[in-house]
Amino acid sequence: MRSAEIHSRFLRHFEQLGHTVVPSASLLADDPTLLLVNAGMVPFKPYFLGELPAPTPRATSIQKCMRTNDIENVGQTTRHGTFFQMAGNFSFGDYFKEKAIPYAWDLLTGGFGFEPDRLWATVYLDDDEAYGIWRDVVGLPAERVQRRGPEENYWSMGVPGPCGPCSEIYYDRGPAYGVDGGPIADEERYLEVWNLVFMQYLRGPGAGYGYVDNLIGDLPAKSIDTGMGIERMAMLLQGVDNMYETDLLRPVLDRATELTGARYGAEHGSDVGLRVIADHTRAVTMMIADGITPTNEGRGYVLRRMLRRAVRTIRLLGGDQPVMPELVGVVRDVMSPMYPELVSDFERIVTIAATEELSFLSTVRAGTTRFDVAAKQAAATGVKSLSGADAFQLHDTYGFPIDLTLEMAAEQGLAVDEESFRRLMAEQRSRARDDRREKAIGNRDLSAFRALLESAGTTDFVGYDAIESEGRVRGLLGESGLLTAAAEGDEVDLVLDRSPFYAEGGGQQGDTGWLDLGSAQAEVLDTRHPVPELPALVVHRIRVAAGEIVLGAQVNARVDADRRAAISRAHTATHLIHKAFRSALGEAATQAGSLNAPGR
Ligand code: SER
Repeated sequence: MRSAEIHSRFLRHFEQLGHTVVPSASLLADDPTLLLVNAGMVPFKPYFLGELPAPTPRATSIQKCMRTNDIENVGQTTRHGTFFQMAGNFSFGDYFKEKAIPYAWDLLTGGFGFEPDRLWATVYLDDDEAYGIWRDVVGLPAERVQRRGPEENYWSMGVPGPCGPCSEIYYDRGPAYGVDGGPIADEERYLEVWNLVFMQYLRGPGAGYGYVDNLIGDLPAKSIDTGMGIERMAMLLQGVDNMYETDLLRPVLDRATELTGARYGAEHGSDVGLRVIADHTRAVTMMIADGITPTNEGRGYVLRRMLRRAVRTIRLLGGDQPVMPELVGVVRDVMSPMYPELVSDFERIVTIAATEELSFLSTVRAGTTRFDVAAKQAAATGVKSLSGADAFQLHDTYGFPIDLTLEMAAEQGLAVDEESFRRLMAEQRSRARDDRREKAIGNRDLSAFRALLESAGTTDFVGYDAIESEGRVRGLLGESGLLTAAAEGDEVDLVLDRSPFYAEGGGQQGDTGWLDLGSAQAEVLDTRHPVPELPALVVHRIRVAAGEIVLGAQVNARVDADRRAAISRAHTATHLIHKAFRSALGEAATQAGSLNAPGR
């Protein structure tokens, strides 16, 4: 059975049972506790928690998911990948165990045609209710229902949120795959295909997915969350041994064998490599399709690492040309029946993948010579370890990510002094932080600004409605510390109780203008929040043009309105251009840190 058919049979089964078909959400989780969506229930979390009313009592979906916790083991086992699709049916306070179990059973033995004799189930230790439904309603022989502990049969997101006991369904692949005795005895032979979670409780913080020690309450209603792995189902229904041989991954793997000259099934090392290429290429294609781009942090870094690992594996297996355009094209052909955006957005997706590949290849070229020298020296000294300083230089000067250095070193039988590498990285980061801070506060001690905020207080900003207002001088800070007065020619920081001056922030430059005190005048050179740690502190950087400014004096503060308007225009133009980029290039076109200065 083709994967597209598995998709539609699943959704049709649950649609006929009154579930609303919901399209997959993006891989970019709209959830601060997660980088990437890792289960079918993630988009529905607020309904389980009762934070939002569920728009429908029953839903079904096939959700794009990523799990990267086992990324090092991809390809080593044949059951795990990073990207996968989770088919699920959900009840938000509607049905519970009594229906969820028979619904799953009917699809497995009906629509998917599994022999009932090969199916097993597990339930949580004391879940007699689920046990009874399997035995008495479904009619599964009691010896094929096993009880297991929280590690296997209690599910939560691994973070505070909804959770509950679960019941898993396993398929017996037969004695060729392992020993008798059910899932408790052998999870390679008895393959988990479906997890039915009886969502009932709220868990607090604590370690682990199967966590029952910190239940802090009941959910507003008993609910159902199930997850059936499409990749595993495809493997069973297509009669192949592992997920890399299904119609979802085999074409990518085959293309990788052509591009590298490696043969699949010939040697363990090549097989692992080919699976890494297939898995990672598919994952990066799906991530880019959802708007993620390669960067050095967060999701973008996950993407960058996986793409680079795929490219590197290609080279280790003998490929010497760029391959992303080819491989991403195969992923499109395989996945587009279910994800048509891979066709409509192909140009953008392939361009991002190909550009990252080329940039990585040039990094590798530049750094490899340096690496070879360092590796030769390490080997010659007999230490068998690359120094932290070498790894740091490869990173700092040649852009080698540490995992690349680690991999290349391992190939030569060398370790890397990671501890001193990390120390050097931390030192560099703290130097950069200090630099930034010094710049932001003009070499002055943070405590001076703290004292200024304490004595002067906060500023009432009236500049959305006015460009001119009356105020009082509440604080003065010079190079030597807090002041009570500033004389003609002095350049100091001044705090007002009320001000129409906008402080730099949100991409908009700070206002400039004038202060008029009757007997004294000053020019406002800039307005800003000088210390990120003290966001409430607003200072006007001023130069006293005439007279003397004393603490407590009354001022008329007037913003340079033409300049403010010019900045606003530049700011608006930035948003318009960004919008145009997004229309032309897609949602992935992001903007940050623009200088919205007059005239730009
Ligand atoms: N949330 C459960 C899981 O991820 C069932 O969908 O296994």
